[in-house]
Parts: sequence; C-alpha cells; structure tokens
Amino acid sequence: MPTLRAAFKVNVYPGKGAPTPDEIAAGAEGCRGMLVLVRDRVDAYLMKRLPQLKAIANYGVGYDNIAVAEATRRGIMVTNTPDVLTEATADLAWALLLATARRLGEGERMVRAGKFTGWTPDMLVGADLQGTTLGLVGFGRIARAVARRAAGFRMRLLHTSRTAHEGAAEEIGSRAVDLDRLLKDSDFVSLHVPLTPETRHLVDAAALRKMKSTAYLVNTSRGPVVDEAALARALREGWIAGAGLDVYEKEPVVDPGLLEGGNVVLLPHIGSATTGARSAMSRVAATNLVLALQGQRPPHLVNPEVAAGA
Ligand code: DGY
Repeated sequence: MPTLRAAFKVNVYPGKGAPTPDEIAAGAEGCRGMLVLVRDRVDAYLMKRLPQLKAIANYGVGYDNIAVAEATRRGIMVTNTPDVLTEATADLAWALLLATARRLGEGERMVRAGKFTGWTPDMLVGADLQGTTLGLVGFGRIARAVARRAAGFRMRLLHTSRTAHEGAAEEIGSRAVDLDRLLKDSDFVSLHVPLTPETRHLVDAAALRKMKSTAYLVNTSRGPVVDEAALARALREGWIAGAGLDVYEKEPVVDPGLLEGGNVVLLPHIGSATTGARSAMSRVAATNLVLALQGQRPPHLVNPEVAAGA
C-alpha cells in the first residue's frame, strides 16, 4: 500500500474543524496533490490559488464538494473512494430506517430523562416492516446494498434510476418506477443519489406531499437533496410519519425545526464511520493520490478526460 509520507513531503492541516478556503490555500501552497475530506470545498477560487495542483483525492465517494468541471479544465485529476464504504453506509441507512420506524430516538431520550415509569401497551408504538414497500431513490451500489438487506423483512422493492440496471434489479427483485409513483407507493423512502444541480431539493414540499402520511424518509446521501425547511414542516404537520437523517442541507448546521420534532432521528454524518470502511477509504484515497502524482491512472478517477488528455 503506497503511503503518502513514503512517497512525498506531506503537510497536514493541524486544526480540528473544517479549514477555510484561505487556510487550505495557505497550507497547500506549492503542493501538487491534495487529499481532502467531503466537508472541504475545493472550488475555482481555490484551484486558481494553487496553480501547481495536479490531483485532488477526495476521502469519500460523493465529490460534490469539488468543482470537477473546473478541475478538468485545469488538467487536475479528481479521485474518490467508492465500493469500500458501500456496506457500512447501507447498514446505517437500515439503522435509521429501523430507528425511525420503531421510535428508538424517542425511547432513548425517554429512558435517559428518567421518564420510563413502566411498560404500557400504547407506549412508543411504531410501524411494522414486514411486507411493506421500500422505495430507493437512485439504484447505485449503496441503494442496491440497502435493497439486499430488505429480503429479511420480505419487503416489496421499488427504485428510480437514470440508468437501466436490469440485471441487478431482477436479481434483487426491485421494480423501476418514476419518482412520483415511488413516493406515492412506498412506506419507506431511502435516498441514494449524488448531489447535482438536478438532485438539489429533489425531495421538496411537493414531493413530501406525495408520500403517504404513514411513510418514513431516510437520507444518507447528501443533505441538499432534501429541502430541510419543507421536511421540518412535513414532520410538524404530519404529512409523513417520520424521518431518519445522517446528512443536512447546511451541514453541520441542522434546521431548528428538525431539532424540535420527536419523529426524527438525527445522526452526525456517520454513514461510512466503521473501522473497516474508514481504513479502507484512507488506503484508497492515498493510493489514488500516489498513482495520480506518479503520472499513472488512479483506479477511481472521476474525470477520466484528464488522464486521456495527459
Ligand atoms: C461519502 O463518502 O461521500 C460520505 O458522505 C462520507 O463517507
């Protein structure tokens, strides 16, 4: 496994929180490569300040934090870390699905507050999963891993996807439908699309209005895919039954309306936070960066046009 320190002189950002663009520019001055986290915004302004930059390795699969078109224009390779976090993220989507359906957040808060005064038949009654319908918005690796886990609950599967995945859909037993149909028919809707201009606010007030009032929304993709203010209203007014969120529109800030509601489980973007996934992400990100800077094609290049033009 190529380590960065064995191959290059490495500057590590010493702070704990997210660096500002100016701090990144100062720390990366003169650098040919950067390894960045999904919270680090690498835009045209930053790239202009780093003219030596040849490669940006993202520590994560989603790369909406990087202005890829600008990187491509400047001949900078951009890489990500797919596959290695698929199972961990699918597990977390299921953890949120179960936690919302069975009201685990409310139960936990009740016990900690000393409000559990004894068993009653009507306390924290949640939703059944067996035989319900799970709708997957997007049908990439993580969505398919979520779908495979639904077999144990004998759920009916629906999905939306821009690309036909006929073989995988047949194998998993999922039916491709349009978003409207998925929202109307699903008891659980789980989001698995990358953040792009097309998917920003894909789940807005109109979409939430189409869901069943007994349905749950799970988001482990990117916060801005959901209009958070509309979701807070939907939860408050009972348009849907609950939501489980790992990501936020203005991360790490969470809409106060969501913090107030009982029928929502909120996690701090920990989809890939397992020891196995995180060490594999480090290995993959480092390998991508070393190969890119050694003039080879890295395995997870998101803008192959750069390598072709090199
Ligand atoms: C990703 O990889 O895109 C996650 O959001 C962080 O693991």
